[in-house]
Amino acid sequence: MISKAQVIQPFLPATLTPGERAEAFAPSNIALCKYWGKRDKELNLPINASLSVSLAHLGSRTRITPALDGADHVLLNGTELTVDSSFSRKVIAFVDLFRGALAQPLIIDTHNNIPTAAGLASSASGFAALMLALDQFYGLQLAPEQLSAFARMGSGSASRSIFTGFVEWQMGNREDGMDSHAVQLPATWPELRIGLVKVATGEKKVDSRAGMQRTVETAHLYQSWPLQAAADLTRLHDAIVEHNFELLGATAEQNALSMHATMIASWPPLLYWQPESVAAMQQVWALREQGVPVYFTMDAGPNLKLLFTAEHESVLSAAFPGLEVVAPFGQP
Ligand code: DP6
Repeated sequence: MISKAQVIQPFLPATLTPGERAEAFAPSNIALCKYWGKRDKELNLPINASLSVSLAHLGSRTRITPALDGADHVLLNGTELTVDSSFSRKVIAFVDLFRGALAQPLIIDTHNNIPTAAGLASSASGFAALMLALDQFYGLQLAPEQLSAFARMGSGSASRSIFTGFVEWQMGNREDGMDSHAVQLPATWPELRIGLVKVATGEKKVDSRAGMQRTVETAHLYQSWPLQAAADLTRLHDAIVEHNFELLGATAEQNALSMHATMIASWPPLLYWQPESVAAMQQVWALREQGVPVYFTMDAGPNLKLLFTAEHESVLSAAFPGLEVVAPFGQP
């Protein structure tokens, strides 16, 4: 197995020249075709390609400055964390891949503006923002595909948060994973809206990383997942090119439910849904029967993300009180 450091090393200059200050933003993203299952756990290489839409202004902003007191400092949303907290350890391990022998202590300050109530994962935008900030701080001048491949090593879904709009993470087949990176799709969809439905917040018992591993190892149903994902990816490309909202929404919803089916078929079973999640799904289906084109997707948690277009925003905001609406391509 190749290590992260072995993959990154050839892309770093012989001598690093740290800057004075770097700051970068990366958006959060919602997958319409999910990444679920790895062929390489060290490098986060996926078993299937995935496709997402980035959440515009919602995401993470990371600032890097030199620490003058000889020790690393990790801050999250304005609060300094202890260096042995799980967040700090992940951040420092990632930074170590780049600063190498220089071992210069740093202040790494991250702010997430993702509404915590929406229960959205912040590891995707967090590692993407950290990667962009490191690139700036050390003047690495990495290409977008390289930034994406390296962000992937922090968290798979971070590979997609390097880009805005519709993004495809190509699975690649190289052992070092350098062809497993995201690319931005040229299409835009100004009327597209994503609604964040809060069902529950708080730490999940089984995170995505452990959940996908358990699914791959114990669910026979998982064998059908790569086939489903490949077919959905093609349908999503068609939907985007044809601007066919029903096809986009229906494909994303079926893809999410298929992923959840593999989770439920794991042992011990993984059911991320709460009774309120199921109630919200039934409400989406009822609204569709009434002629409102709305679909949902869900990640490894109880919250729903609704897909709809701008003209139906008021109906959906009334149906789902507290709905947080995002325009991924900006307001038309
Ligand atoms: C269900 O990217 O969090 O949200 O690579 O282990 O860090 P690691 O996993 P992560 O998994 C995200 C899984 C998902 C689907 C998706 O975003 O594609």
